[in-house]
Amino acid sequence: MPTTPPADRNAERGSEALSFPTDFVWGAATASYQIEGAVDEGGRSASIWDTFSHTPGMVVDGDTGDVACDHYHRYREDVALLADLGVSHYRFSLAWPRLQPEGRGALNEAGLDFYVRLVEALLERDITPWVTLYHWDLPQVLEDAGGWPARETAQRFADYSAAVHARLHDRVHAWTTLNEPWVAAFLGYAAGEHAPGVRDPAQALRAAHHLLLGHGLALEAMRAQDPGTSTFGITLNFSPVRSATEDEADVEAARRIDALQNRLFLDPLLRGRYAEDLLEDVADVTDGAHVQEGDLERIAQPLDFLGVNYYFPWTVRAGGRATAPSPWVGSEDVEFVDRGLPTTAMGWEIEPDGLRETLTRLSDEYAAPPLYVTENGAAFDEAPGPDGVVQDANRIAYLDGHFRAAHAARERGADVRGYFVWSLLDNFEWAFGFSRRFGLVHVDYPTQRRTPKASAGWYAQVTRRNGLPAA
Ligand code: FCB
Repeated sequence: MPTTPPADRNAERGSEALSFPTDFVWGAATASYQIEGAVDEGGRSASIWDTFSHTPGMVVDGDTGDVACDHYHRYREDVALLADLGVSHYRFSLAWPRLQPEGRGALNEAGLDFYVRLVEALLERDITPWVTLYHWDLPQVLEDAGGWPARETAQRFADYSAAVHARLHDRVHAWTTLNEPWVAAFLGYAAGEHAPGVRDPAQALRAAHHLLLGHGLALEAMRAQDPGTSTFGITLNFSPVRSATEDEADVEAARRIDALQNRLFLDPLLRGRYAEDLLEDVADVTDGAHVQEGDLERIAQPLDFLGVNYYFPWTVRAGGRATAPSPWVGSEDVEFVDRGLPTTAMGWEIEPDGLRETLTRLSDEYAAPPLYVTENGAAFDEAPGPDGVVQDANRIAYLDGHFRAAHAARERGADVRGYFVWSLLDNFEWAFGFSRRFGLVHVDYPTQRRTPKASAGWYAQVTRRNGLPAA
């Protein structure tokens, strides 16, 4: 992987005022299971996250998304908060079990109606809806039928996507198929840290392929019926992978993790193939028989945009002890090194340059389509002060550094067109439940009171001036 010399990195941390192009997209992001609640309303069926979060021991403090931020009932208030941020776009996901409770067949009108009302409320405020069709809440009925390791699920996803697109494409023009298939496949089916909690490396590889296939089939189906007003893409999560030393074995460990984390999805999507070295790395886990003729052509259809989620880089070395269960299928013995850098409340290293590196790599090595940072943000533990306001200087510094990194990537030619902060609200952070707060807006869960944090006011200035002040 290309690396930037340290001197060059420091140069990019300058604190001068920066501006972005006038059509640059500023947004905020959420996901259905993390905020909606109302799990039994409007004909919604259970998702794998309902089942998982209700399984003792799976989520910190036994938290569930049963109520979450009660966004299902409070969406108008949340749209008003978006308007206060001055964002032009809102990225949110649709709950498949709300729209198609049986995982197949006709759409559930009550579920559709909720999203129509949400979209209308956004449009009234001139906020563009940026829809994700799948952010991990698979209908439990489809998991019972085999989940993502089953090829049939890819077809179910395409049918669901086409049905929803048919009803909303008059008002929604940006369609993302999947959010972070790496997480869905490897935390869901190999590490078992996420729903459905399976720990089977071979199943995880099948899941990854069928997620990609589902993406391809969904794109094909939606494009076939689109009047030409929509753009279509996918969101992946990237971490640049650095080797702890120049030692050959450590460099090799970094190559293996980069293959699993980043290239496993990029190569099929943008080059129409799985990389040879990756296939060798996982040869003991799978014979690859689930990859059928024609799949890769389907997966590699042109993308109108690529969504980039970035939080932190990895540093690795060889020779650790294999830890099971692990998401690193076939490379379970690679050791992850703590470099002692400052971290967020997730324990994630804070390293804005990893975002610049990621965006630049996508542009230089993959000739990627237009790029949007679809998630970036940070959890910190700040509590509200006596006035109820959270003074989250850490979050402001985190975002400032990462916005600058995206700007630096643009300066170097990466076609970065927008940035969505994760997240609008504190919310249900998956296996961490409500213990980690990523919001620009604080949520007091017992009362559901929303209070913008200091970072919300700061971000509103960024969106309005379309740039950053000198720091
Ligand atoms: C990403 C997820 C998002 C949120 C952030 C912190 O992996 O897509 O839902 O949990 O991490």
